[in-house]
Amino acid sequence: MPHKLTSCAGLRAVVTGASSGIGHSLAERLAAQGARVALVARRTERLETLAESIRSKGGDAIVLTCDVADRERSLACAREIEERLGGVDLLVNNAGYGHHRRFLDWDLDDMERMMRVNYFGALYWTKALLPGMVARRRGWLVFVSSVGGKLAVPEETAYAGSKFAMSGFAEALSYEVEDDGVHVMVVCPGTIRTEFFDEEALRRMPPVSRRMMADVEPMVDAILDGLARGKYEVTFPRFVEMGYVVRAIAPGIMRRNTRKQTLEALAKEGR
Ligand SMILES: NC(=O)c1ccc[n+]([C@@H]2O[C@H](COP(=O)([O-])OP(=O)(O)OC[C@H]3O[C@@H](n4cnc5c(N)ncnc54)[C@H](OP(=O)(O)O)[C@@H]3O)[C@@H](O)[C@H]2O)c1
Repeated sequence: MPHKLTSCAGLRAVVTGASSGIGHSLAERLAAQGARVALVARRTERLETLAESIRSKGGDAIVLTCDVADRERSLACAREIEERLGGVDLLVNNAGYGHHRRFLDWDLDDMERMMRVNYFGALYWTKALLPGMVARRRGWLVFVSSVGGKLAVPEETAYAGSKFAMSGFAEALSYEVEDDGVHVMVVCPGTIRTEFFDEEALRRMPPVSRRMMADVEPMVDAILDGLARGKYEVTFPRFVEMGYVVRAIAPGIMRRNTRKQTLEALAKEGR
């Protein structure tokens, strides 16, 4: 049975990657709905500004500076949060980044680092905070993966690897902990307007992705709605789910479409 998160009042929440984009907006919304939030990322100043803004509206926020790829620091921060908040009910593993380039041009160090941030970071934080949730028989784990963690496209090799890994990890875990009162939900954003897309990414972005670019607030609505309904997976925008179906029943069509909408479309535009 899924566990629904119907009220955020008094909820003790951790959001990694809260200094910008999806994590920033989600932390803000959770706090506005009465959650006490721990804000985690590397850019302390941005986290402090968000915490100040939350407190100025009567909310409760604490700041932890952490590179989630750093295992010891992640475990220590998670411990500190548990002590300061008296436990954690919701962990949002959101910290992550992507690059868009061909595998042949992609530096090994960067690919390894991406795996450590996007996948191992989530694993460390989950390892640290899940035991408390199981002991209290209450908790929610959100993994902000990607549509790129379900459908692989060119120029996302290392990113797809990290997000497929995250999605698989989360799905397997969801079975293990459901009977302990812990709900696991995977979030698959499509193309959301955030700092995620640097100049390089915007230059290489296929026209179809540019056309479907969505704002961050409806993305956050979809996450909160998914938690309230006890969903196991949320894809936003929703119509992108059609791609999963096509991939499963007509992989040949999916391949042709993917080629057309990515490599061929970019070549046509001379990019
Ligand atoms: N935007 C999209 O279209 C899209 C699509 C699919 C999936 N996603 C996923 O959504 C998540 C959030 O991305 P976003 O779009 O909101 O991008 P964003 O605005 O760039 O936010 C990324 C957040 O992750 C944090 N972060 C990055 N590396 C970190 C590290 N090593 N340690 C701790 N925090 C780190 C950043 O904070 P600091 O730099 O301060 O550390 C920032 O707060 C990511 O996991 C991304 O893969 C986004």
